Amino acid sequence: TTTAVDIYDEIEALKVREDAAILAHYYQDGEIQELADITGDSLKLAREATKITNRTIVFCGVHFMAETAKMLNPEKRVLLPDMGAGCSLSDSCPAPALERRQNQLRAEGRRFQTVTYINSTAAVKALSDWVVTSGNAEEIIRRVPDDVEILFVPDRHLGQYLIEVTGRPMILWDGSCMVHEVFSVGDLLRLKRRMPESLTIAHPECPTNIREQSEFVGGTEAMIKYVARYEAPTDFLVATEANMLWQLEAKVPRHRYHPVPGVTCACNKCPHMARNTLEKLRDCLAHGTPEILWQPQFERAAEVLRRSLL
Ligand code: 13P
Repeated sequence: TTTAVDIYDEIEALKVREDAAILAHYYQDGEIQELADITGDSLKLAREATKITNRTIVFCGVHFMAETAKMLNPEKRVLLPDMGAGCSLSDSCPAPALERRQNQLRAEGRRFQTVTYINSTAAVKALSDWVVTSGNAEEIIRRVPDDVEILFVPDRHLGQYLIEVTGRPMILWDGSCMVHEVFSVGDLLRLKRRMPESLTIAHPECPTNIREQSEFVGGTEAMIKYVARYEAPTDFLVATEANMLWQLEAKVPRHRYHPVPGVTCACNKCPHMARNTLEKLRDCLAHGTPEILWQPQFERAAEVLRRSLL
């Protein structure tokens, strides 16, 4: 029988055999983050993927992340442990629907640029002027000329947050993340009452009712920097995917971290991220599949990505 130790050894051996680097998002299970060569938020992982010297990248994250790595590194083999690891935000904005909306706005004579959250398909990125992550969205919004409108897709909560922090009105799409959409504000308020000294940190994909109860709003990389600024051990209430607590505990162990519950669960996890397991990671290295294959629409999408992220 295979024990947990065997599978770590198997993965290490396969990494050498296949000349592979493992990249993992902060929303992966702790055991996957632990053996990854690089962990990061969406922005850091996209940038780091361009510096990998290995022939193969195994991307432990969801499909759009692996696809982004492939678009930025066409000559490399990019593997994703489970091809079914999707994204509710990405699903909420199909390319034909975006194209119809853009045509409608053009027919009304409106001049606009499309700013797209990285949680989207290559076809949607190819229809965009800019691609942003939670880590660089404010900076990119400020780069869009003042004399055009902004169509922001697909996350309406992140879009609303960006309107608030940049003061720039935007036309929003009606998409949201299934994980960040369901935090329970009632449970958050109960936790705050129980721990009056605690600080709440929330991802900008959270709705306004959660964001307005938070001392800090930022993406996962920004959360690590924020908690590191506090020297005294502190209770942090964390409103993002619950595997982020593993990363916070690993990087800044002096604090205590508490997940903000979802409306139906004590611990809010992304079912898509959870599709990647150690077994599937081993198998994709062993068999070289599932692999992200180059598609014609990657060409234009890659241009937009390079301009926006690198
Ligand atoms: P960041 O990686 O930018 O924190 O965003 C999280 C996310 O949306 C992953 O799907």
